[in-house]
Order: sequence, then structure tokens, then C-alpha cells
Amino acid sequence: MLDKEKILIIGSASQILGIKIANKLGIECIDTEFKTFPDGENYLRINVEDETILEGKEIIIVQSTGPSVRNNQNAQFFELLMMIDAVKRIGPKKIVVVVPYLAYARQDKIFRPGETRFIRTLLRIINSMEIDEFYVVDLHEPKVLEEMSCKSVNIDSMKLLAEYIKSLGAENIVVLSPDKGAIERSKTFAKYFGNNVSLKVFEKERCVKTGDIKMTGSFNLENKDVVISDDIIATGGTMATAIKLAKQNGANKVYAVATHALLLKNAKYLILKAGADEIIGTDSIDNEVSKVSLANAIIDYLK
Ligand code: R5P
Repeated sequence: MLDKEKILIIGSASQILGIKIANKLGIECIDTEFKTFPDGENYLRINVEDETILEGKEIIIVQSTGPSVRNNQNAQFFELLMMIDAVKRIGPKKIVVVVPYLAYARQDKIFRPGETRFIRTLLRIINSMEIDEFYVVDLHEPKVLEEMSCKSVNIDSMKLLAEYIKSLGAENIVVLSPDKGAIERSKTFAKYFGNNVSLKVFEKERCVKTGDIKMTGSFNLENKDVVISDDIIATGGTMATAIKLAKQNGANKVYAVATHALLLKNAKYLILKAGADEIIGTDSIDNEVSKVSLANAIIDYLK
């Protein structure tokens, strides 16, 4: 039986995840019509003929903002704002917004004079639309959610990722963090593999001007299956460097794991060439490595 009090609106960047969440919750889902005008402006409408079906309902909007259908994060973000705006105009009882991958999340610190902590501004823009609940997954710096005045939750995907890796038959697991910034996340991740699973941390330095990476670390990884975990794989530079170092330290199998595997440019090649046995991501980004669905973790909060 469909729960008629809730409707899920699926954004273009979350088609598979959106359907899964709607099916598991037993609620109707509606997609969007979207295009880009010749001048570059976005067009979006909720794909309904009778918009009164949204009136007085709890509306759940699911839209990632990674490079997906449009290959353009900014366009996906604008779609998100347009979805909220359209729904708001129609008059729902409640608006719940789920952004599995939130773009600009890494721009949370000032590294060079004149930069912007843009993620905070972006959250203030969403907050200004007066939504009721806001959910993201494995945010680069969860503290930035303090910009939101509604209920805001950073959902942890690591239990699901750990379960998937265990199902692959990984043995003598060591969890490896590619830099100090990922320590807290990697500590939590290691616990999901069992109390005796150790955590190792490489030192990463990234040149703020060129983006070049230097990584160091020396551990005995002989006979160990190594799980290297990060929040985002973008160009693959961090992951590939960590894999090479793990292999130099004697690692047996290496699993390259990220919640948000954007896999830009030649990232897949770099990571596999470095020696990864498998690249594993979630469906916050729709691509060939979205092996772990976030649906169950998200519906725990939406039920
Ligand atoms: C950085 O702080 C993030 O946690 C990731 O390590 C970074 O986004 C990965 O980027 P890339 O794949 O381009 O090295």
C-alpha cells in the first residue's frame, strides 16, 4: 500500500538512488523535466500535470550535485534549488531535502589569500529557502552544517561500505587513511571491520598552488588486504598515490573506497594502474563503481 502522505521528487543526478528510496519507503515518485536554454540558463519543472497532488504533502527531494547527467555540478546545484523553489510555491506540508553528494564541500577552509569558504555560502542559500529537514552523506567537514537552521544530518555510509568489502572476502584487513584529514572517518570505518582491525595513516601534503601531492608513510603491510578510504575520489591523484605507497609497503589486495567516487578525467586508469584490485563507491554518484547503495542508510532517517 502506498503511503499517500509523502511524495518523492527525483532529481536528474539521483535517478537510481531516488527510485530505490521511493520503493523502499512505499511512496510515489515523480521525476523532473530539465534542459539548458541556448544562453546557458537551466530550465526545470516537476513532471506533474496536476500540481495540486503535492499540496499539503510531505515532499522528499533527492538530488546529488556531482557531475552526472549534465556533467556540470553547478547545473545540478541549480536544479536542486529550482526543485525546492517549485515545490515550495505549490504549498507542501513539509520539505525534506536529501543531497547525497554536496558539491563544493571541500571548499571549507582558506588556503590562499582571497579565497572563499564557499560551502558555507552555498548552505546559507539552501537554508534561506526555509526547508524543514536536510540530509547529506559523509560531508568533507560536517561542522559546516552549523550554517543550517533546520534539522540537518550528515549520514554515515561507512557501515554499508564495510559490509560490502567484507562480502568480497577480504582478509587480514588494514584500513589506511590517505591523509590526516580523513583520520576520524577512517577510525569509524575501521571499527566496522572489527575491534582488532588496525588503522594506518599516511602523511599527505598538497601544494596549494599546483595541487601536486606528496605522500609518505612506512608500515609493514605484508599479507594484509588494505582498504584505502576517502570521502571523495576526484582526479584520483590522492588514491593512486596512496595505493602505490601501500604496494611498496607490501600490501596484498588493495581496495580503493570512496563515498563519492566522482572519477574525473583519467582517475580510473590512475587508480587501477597503481595496483587497486577494485574501486568501490556509493550511488551518491551514478557510475560504474556505485556498488553500494545509500538507500537503506537514508531511509532510516526518512521513515
Ligand atoms: C581532500 O581533502 C579529499 O578528502 C580527497 O582526498 C580529495 O578530494 C581527492 O581528490 P583527488 O582525487 O583529486 O586527489
